[in-house]
Amino acid sequence: MLTDRFGRQVDYLRLSVTDRCDFRCVYCMAEQMTFLPRERVLTLEELHRLARAFIQLGVRRIRLTGGEPLVRRDLPQLAHWIASEPGLAELTLTTNGSRLGRYAASLRDAGVKRLNISLDSLDPARFHALTRTGELADVLAGIQAAKAAGFARIRLNSVILRGRNEDEIPALADFALAHGLDLAFIEEMPLGEISEHSRALAFMPSEDIRAALEAHVPLMPATDVSAGPARYWRVPGYRSRIGFISPHSHNFCHLCNRVRVTAEGRLLLCLGNEHSVDLRAVLRAHPQDDAPLREAIVAAMAIKPERHHFRVDDGEQLVRFMNMTGG
Ligand code: GTP
Ligand code: 5AD
Ligand code: SF4
Repeated sequence: MLTDRFGRQVDYLRLSVTDRCDFRCVYCMAEQMTFLPRERVLTLEELHRLARAFIQLGVRRIRLTGGEPLVRRDLPQLAHWIASEPGLAELTLTTNGSRLGRYAASLRDAGVKRLNISLDSLDPARFHALTRTGELADVLAGIQAAKAAGFARIRLNSVILRGRNEDEIPALADFALAHGLDLAFIEEMPLGEISEHSRALAFMPSEDIRAALEAHVPLMPATDVSAGPARYWRVPGYRSRIGFISPHSHNFCHLCNRVRVTAEGRLLLCLGNEHSVDLRAVLRAHPQDDAPLREAIVAAMAIKPERHHFRVDDGEQLVRFMNMTGG
């Protein structure tokens, strides 16, 4: 079991398979992005070796992330390899939904249990403005395909920005309730230099999002939900859970059970800090032997920071973009 120096057990890995994406969401990326050259990105085989090493060290849940994981060719193949590893309890995936129409069934067949799908607006023009390149119709078709494929649970993720989509909080909730989907409202995190809006002005705390929601539907706390950054509520009479991810207003670092690996194989010990270890170098130096990889992962637990230090008020922020981070 992986344990850090604060006694937190790490049993959850977020594995980013690419920094690329077919969208350019305003809170995630700059309009013009330079992506990693191919040789710096881990191969599918390297991603599989990494996942296996973490599972051997006690990781029980893996979430595939990006960028957009489904822009990576043969992703269902990788999902199948990882989901077949003995010891893994659950493989999940976070996607923007644009390619789910094509891939939902094969992901389900490969063994992916749950999906999180980003959806920040139900208005086509506004959706296009927020994602810069996205088409709402593709994502809605992707959500339908995911429902038809029979995933255990599907959660929508909505990043709420004041002045851009705060008026859609009730509509997004109604959509989730009507379709039997979970929904997480997310506070924007200040990762990377963006130009379209002021992070400070657009920031909407979960408390305010919840107040807007409670003016529309009654909420009661959900008691059956396991650890993770979201705190969940239920609407009486519905299957859906509605969660709030509040890295600013509700710090959950003391419960952190997770680490992430970037598309170039950098093990990040915390979303909001730069503490990291280059696992790609270890993978490539020892192509036939995973023991050094496991040793490097165990050693890295010593530098997992106690908490993140996001600031929205003074412009101080990490230079790393979210797509480089794996969400
Ligand atoms: P689970 O795997 O079910 O816990 O889902 P998740 O909410 O972690 O996954 P998802 O990929 O949908 O991420 C939703 C939001 O939570 C994104 O904005 C992530 O950046 C954020 N998030 C995930 N893990 C962490 C974390 O450790 N710290 C912070 N601050 N945010 C996180
Ligand atoms: N702050 C909060 N959430 C973000 N996401 C991407 N960038 C940010 C940010 N700066 C969300 C996406 C997706 C999830 C993986 O992360 O909307 O749902
Ligand atoms: Fe792509 Fe997700 Fe970033 Fe949007 S938030 S640009 S969909 S990686």
